[in-house]
Parts: sequence; C-alpha cells; structure tokens
Amino acid sequence: MKIVLGSDHAGFSLKETIKEHLSSQGWEVIDCGTDSEESVDYPDFGEKVARAICDGICEKGILVCGTGIGISIAANKLPGIRAAVCHDLFTAQASREHNDANILAMGARVLAPSLAMEMVDTWLATPFSGGRNQRRIDKIAALEK
Ligand code: RB5
Repeated sequence: MKIVLGSDHAGFSLKETIKEHLSSQGWEVIDCGTDSEESVDYPDFGEKVARAICDGICEKGILVCGTGIGISIAANKLPGIRAAVCHDLFTAQASREHNDANILAMGARVLAPSLAMEMVDTWLATPFSGGRNQRRIDKIAALEK
C-alpha cells in the first residue's frame, strides 16, 4: 500500500488531488514533487518517480504532466520502467493486464479530474494477466540489454 507520485507544474493540481484520494484510501504516498505551479522541467520528476521504483522503494507510481507524454518518455529511459500514458478506463485497465505497467502517466490538460481518479482506482485494482503477455514483457526487458 505504498505508491510514489510525481508531476510537473501542469500536473501539480491533479497530483495533489490524486494524493488526497489515495491517502484517504489508506495508501502511503511518497510525493516526489513538484510542489507548486511554478514552471519546472518534467524529466526531473519522471526520473525521481522512476528511480523510486528501480530502487525498490515502491512497486508502482503515478506521473502527471500536461499530456502525460513527456514525463512518461523520461521515466521510460530507466531500466525496468513501463510507464503507460492512459486516456480512459480501457487503456488504464489494459496497461496493467497486458503491459504490466508500473507507472500510470496521465495528462492534466487532457483528463477531467473525476475520470483521472476512476482511472487510478482501475489501474491499481487490475492485476497483470501473465501468460503470453509475460513473454512480451520479457522481450521488452531484453531490449534494455
Ligand atoms: C509543460 O508546458 C508541458 O510541456 C508538459 O506538462 C507536458 O505536457 C509535456 O509532455
């Protein structure tokens, strides 16, 4: 029940809402920032969250920027990170079932906060399906070598 969150300035407000939402459900939240709407660079926060997962501090994380795109590209540069930009409940669910995503990335300029909260709940509740999808994840891991 521990999760790591991060955002840039565009995602700050939605990250704060997600933090309250998860804390109220009993999650221990590690917040890597940012701490305000002052302009920052999204790769710095993608890296912090990805490193917390690489270092084994948390199994899963959530990243928010304007679109979810830049911050996920940055996070995906670290080994073992599978950050998925999701846009709806279907992609949130599929990113766990098929891709074993360990980071949910979302766009605060794309999603209504209420949908984002439903996506967070769906994403956290959905297990990886394994089987043929494990073979595919193994092939992604092999690309890192
Ligand atoms: C910041 O203006 C914006 O570029 C960033 O939040 C994100 O959308 C990048 O992918």
